[in-house]
Amino acid sequence: MKVLVVGSGAREHALARSLASDPAVTAVWVAPGGPGPASEPGVLGCLPVDPCDGDAVTALAQELGVDLVVVGPEAPLVAGVADAVRASGTACFGPSADAAQLEGSKAFAKQVMAAAGVPTAMARVCTTAEEVAEALDLFGAPHVVKDDGLAAGKGVVVTSSRADALEHAAACLAREGAQVVVEEFLDGPEVSLFVLTDGTDVVPLAPAQDFKRALDGDEGPNTGGMGAYSPLPWAPPGLVEEVVARVAQPVVDEMRRRGTPFAGVLYCGLALTSRGVRVVEFNARFGDPETQVVLARLRTPLGGLLHACATGRLGAHLADTGPLRWSRGAAVVVVLAAPGYPAATTTGGVITGADASADEAAWVLHAGTALDASGALVSAGGRVLSVVGSGQDLAAARTAAYDRLAAVRLEGAQWRTDVASAAAEGALTAS
Ligand code: AMP
Ligand code: GLY
Repeated sequence: MKVLVVGSGAREHALARSLASDPAVTAVWVAPGGPGPASEPGVLGCLPVDPCDGDAVTALAQELGVDLVVVGPEAPLVAGVADAVRASGTACFGPSADAAQLEGSKAFAKQVMAAAGVPTAMARVCTTAEEVAEALDLFGAPHVVKDDGLAAGKGVVVTSSRADALEHAAACLAREGAQVVVEEFLDGPEVSLFVLTDGTDVVPLAPAQDFKRALDGDEGPNTGGMGAYSPLPWAPPGLVEEVVARVAQPVVDEMRRRGTPFAGVLYCGLALTSRGVRVVEFNARFGDPETQVVLARLRTPLGGLLHACATGRLGAHLADTGPLRWSRGAAVVVVLAAPGYPAATTTGGVITGADASADEAAWVLHAGTALDASGALVSAGGRVLSVVGSGQDLAAARTAAYDRLAAVRLEGAQWRTDVASAAAEGALTAS
């Protein structure tokens, strides 16, 4: 099987790395990718393309003669790239533009959850400042105000300040036709669970936890994600089965019933509240950086699994291969971000020590990197690298990740020092 991965983050580097290690996969390309996947053993190369241009991605897939296109980020999915690829007759892992609205519109996701009886925060969709004020009073503090559309993890404000909540809502509503979602605050730890589906059958991957805030101790602004780990030793037994039964399967069934089947990965962002599991959000794609740790632990070959999802054969595939296999160990990823991220990122700094190594315990995946005119590796985005460590438990995986990170140099770089520390020490409990 020949595969084209679309995207250029560390998530796509991780996908390409796992696909390249699948014995059934004979060729992997990444487009546009970057210096990281380009030097990954087993990846044939990176090719320039606008990931949101469905015709260009389709043409590239045909030129390469691939059997499967895997779309990483949300923007191409919402733009209909998966539809364009499928229309040309090539299998594509990733939902249609209609189905990707589960991520593209928070208001749409709320409607689907209501129809499917899925537990989530109570919410009001607002189009005026008056409606926002009313909803803030209805739910009380802390306030949660979300831009309805895609905002790369930066459209959500959680605050105890009513003034800040109103200000964020006003900024979102200033755009023509905008809506904001005001919702009830959910307490309790968050879990990311990725569920693969062909539109009918579903199979969960291992749960992970993401560190969304920029600074240690969950301080600072929300980011795209600063670190993650898997497994979650503190999670209640039966959590995954419960989420499949009460969240993923009902949503997949509801999407099919609406005539817009969801095939791809349904990313269930969950809060384990004192009143039970609640959905915080859905994404229509793999999470970044959680994918880096989930794939580090997956032993079942990835290519066949994604191809089965893309071609409506997930049930038959799993009947052949049996349940997914996982390493019994743990994985931790720490994101190295550029100076100033997320508010005012500075790029162009020289990076050393970030080679893709054959080390089995720790490896570096690239996100915002580029080669400058002299061929030196430089930073080119907010989240620059994902450093992944694996080990027999979270403590060992954490040590492996941070030891590898210590060998990387980028002036002014920042990272969290507490990724997975509470879980590794057994200090976390589910509420
Ligand atoms: P979202 O873009 O919906 O994932 O929100 C980004 C982050 O904001 C989530 O991962 C949570 O940390 C936080 N968040 C979103 N909705 C809520 C909520 N209802 N209650 C508490 N925190 C929330
Ligand atoms: N890690 C959060 C996300 O991918 O949206």
